[in-house]
Amino acid sequence: MSIWNFRMFVAGSAALSALGFWHYAAGNDPQATSEKDRNIRSARRETKMLDTLYKTAIVSVTQTYVENDSSTAAITTFQPVLKAMKAGNWHEVRLVDGLGDPINPENSPKDAFEKQAMKDMLAGKEMVDSVETIGGKEFLRTMTILPMALEKCVLCHENYRGKKIVGGVSYQVPLNRDGE
Ligand code: HEC
Repeated sequence: MSIWNFRMFVAGSAALSALGFWHYAAGNDPQATSEKDRNIRSARRETKMLDTLYKTAIVSVTQTYVENDSSTAAITTFQPVLKAMKAGNWHEVRLVDGLGDPINPENSPKDAFEKQAMKDMLAGKEMVDSVETIGGKEFLRTMTILPMALEKCVLCHENYRGKKIVGGVSYQVPLNRDGE
């Protein structure tokens, strides 16, 4: 990896925070004290933590272990973690393709939320979120941008060459854990 690219990634993340990337209107209104508002705020904090965790882990594993296109991809290494999180009803997370040419077609934007969120990412938004009821339960769904964080990404994703934003990370976090 090039340290320069990693620095750009870190600097990019810092710039996004400085821009107030994670400060949303509804969730930060001091007047908003309903239970639902508190649940949304809490789910946003949780999603922000997960976004930092997964992106840092993917970059770190790629830097440390990926040598060529026969290496195991970071996202493949994490599959048992993602499955365990889903099985425990903690959260769901997946990488979503933004360029129309995924390695795994199942990683294309899969429903109305992801399709619209990906359009918004490609148009310049850093994140989009929305509360949705799925199977009778409420979830905060979020998509954050996935930049071409390392030159090594191109080892396996030839189509990423010269691109800045290559996709998104899609999260689904329960809004209310009462009764669990
Ligand atoms: C060693 C090869 C390899 C490297 C390096 C790699 N990936 Fe991937 N990537 C994969 C594989 C394999 C998949 C499909 C995983 C699956 O769904 O089973 C994938 C999936 C993805 C997806 C979902 C869309 C798709 O193509 O299926 C995105 C987005 C993505 N990678 C981004 C990145 C980024 C950003 C980097 C650099 C930080 C990166 N990848 C580095 C192999 C790689």
